Amino acid sequence: LRRSRVLSGIQPTAGSFHLGNYLGAVRQWVALQESHDAFFAIVDLHAITIPQDPRALREATRLAAAQLLGAGLDPERCTLFVQSHVPEHTQLAWVLNGFTGFGEAARMTQFKDKSAKQGTEGTTVGLFTYPVLQAADILLYQADEVPVGEDQRQHIELTRDVAARFNARLGDTFAVPAPRILKEAAKIYDLQDPAVKMSKSASSPRGIVWLMDEPKASGKKFRSAVTDTGTEVRYDPEGKPGVSNLLVIYSALTGIGVAELEEKFAGRLYGALKTELADVFAEWVAPFRARTEEFLKDPAELDRVLALGADKARAVATATLADVYGKVGF
Ligand code: ADP
Ligand code: NA
Repeated sequence: LRRSRVLSGIQPTAGSFHLGNYLGAVRQWVALQESHDAFFAIVDLHAITIPQDPRALREATRLAAAQLLGAGLDPERCTLFVQSHVPEHTQLAWVLNGFTGFGEAARMTQFKDKSAKQGTEGTTVGLFTYPVLQAADILLYQADEVPVGEDQRQHIELTRDVAARFNARLGDTFAVPAPRILKEAAKIYDLQDPAVKMSKSASSPRGIVWLMDEPKASGKKFRSAVTDTGTEVRYDPEGKPGVSNLLVIYSALTGIGVAELEEKFAGRLYGALKTELADVFAEWVAPFRARTEEFLKDPAELDRVLALGADKARAVATATLADVYGKVGF
């Protein structure tokens, strides 16, 4: 029986992944490698849709790989690779550009949001065709499912439409993938502004917990997290977004249910929750950081793992691209 194939990507981020990336994505990947035929890409081609410093990008890509391995991805149990190491991504993306409507792409809300922030002159054409490259990432591997957060649903719909259109015009070529919306994935909010999700583009750097931060620094961030003027530690995302966010993080890192945590902190103040969570995080992050550092200290091993991943990915990608090129008339 063939295991269901999944593909997911994550952008290399300067500094390191933040806690939202881990609890919302990376942790699910580690579980998926056991149950699925899993392909995971560090999407450096997507990263250059905004300006990047070349040295910083190269470092961020290696750091992403080291962190994914540090988090528990096993190159024997999944296919972990860097997107730019597999040229078929850009080759298929160009073909798919010819099968995507301009209006269809222009409706993508992520593009509308990001381009509104950056202005027309500051927005690259790459940002516009970003979802087409994402479609290529997925369709190259004939993925059955795409594990994503809710915010990516529209891009997966576009991928499905483009795949179905290509299949209808030129014959069955692509598996039409289903989104696998990660409902179990925690959504983590900014520690300083719990109305917005924790994001690398946050306004206050104190609101983001970077996984590779010195534990002292992240402890401080937890202890100074914004809560509210109440006192009772209770899960209430509407009325107590800050406290609820801390409870969700605590629960995700320990496996203790939120209801049980409410009992544990009954009669105690917010400060107790913050201090304990700082300790819980420090204990959780220490082995992750140690494993990640080990890969960073051994560039040859990291290169070997990524070359192996690219070989495994290309074995599939070249077959799909050859089929596509033939059908297109190349
Ligand atoms: P950012 O929002 O910091 O730019 P990305 O968009 O690069 O992060 O997200 C990488 C992955 O991490 C995606 O799968 C995304 O859904 C997940 N993710 C990002 N931020 C959060 C968050 N605050 N809570 C849960 N998941 C998140
Ligand atoms: Na984002």
